[in-house]
Amino acid sequence: MGPGKGPSLASNGLMRIQRSTLATVGAATAAAVIFKNERNGRQAAERFAAAALETLLNAIDANDAETGAHVRRVATYALILADAAGLDEHDVRVVEQVALFHDIGKIHEALFDIIHDHRTLTPAERRAVLTHPQRGADVLAPLEAFYPELPDGVLSHHERWNGAGYPRQLKGRRIPISARIVAIADTFDAITHSRRYRAERSAEMARDIILAGRGTEFDPLLVDMFILPPVFAKIVAAERRVERWKVPVKQRRTGEKEDRVPDITFRWRPGRSGGRGQPATDRPRRTAR
Ligand SMILES: [Fe+2]
Repeated sequence: MGPGKGPSLASNGLMRIQRSTLATVGAATAAAVIFKNERNGRQAAERFAAAALETLLNAIDANDAETGAHVRRVATYALILADAAGLDEHDVRVVEQVALFHDIGKIHEALFDIIHDHRTLTPAERRAVLTHPQRGADVLAPLEAFYPELPDGVLSHHERWNGAGYPRQLKGRRIPISARIVAIADTFDAITHSRRYRAERSAEMARDIILAGRGTEFDPLLVDMFILPPVFAKIVAAERRVERWKVPVKQRRTGEKEDRVPDITFRWRPGRSGGRGQPATDRPRRTAR
């Protein structure tokens, strides 16, 4: 093709470059849109899953304020120990979630009246209470896709380092780290807060009891962290701070209005701020959004 009878080689080349540039820009734009949609979809799913956890926590509060306060105290101590153990942000979140939901199985209809009964439990009732880790894991199972370590952590919070725990008699490091941490925090709270069958005891006495379980009931390295003076001082300070979170022990379905459940900031829910460690009565209640 001669000059003036059609596009020159140069202009043909330019058109090809323009077309390929347009195609590249188009592909990049499409990829960006897909990426943005995927990211938005993922964020929406994460927000929805976080809302599901918060709803579950609200359900615990609504059904059993005593357990609601207990699990928050346990989460407070567990987070101090998790930080001291140098866990990364993901594992710290898992510890918080396992701590907050470790006893969700206790609000099961089959266990609630047994757990809140002031009389001594019969052997059959004691056996029934031992089912609460499995019941809790069953409640949380639908959330496993979002929080894969949560049901297993809850299932394992009564396992013992020496394999003498329940329900699976896991031993040592086969017990998830979240459950090993929560076991120590749970024991500390059980000793330092009065139960209907036992008066509360001092933080120092709780420390000694936990130390006595080093290597048998509890992970020895975690116990060593727990009793480190700076770590234990933080635990004691937190224990004094959350002292106000105690709720009166009461029989089921009294109809009393309960408004003493503490609020916290959820690590699993980015953007929440303020209120951590502050009782709900000291700040406005959450409102639905
Ligand atoms: Fe438990």
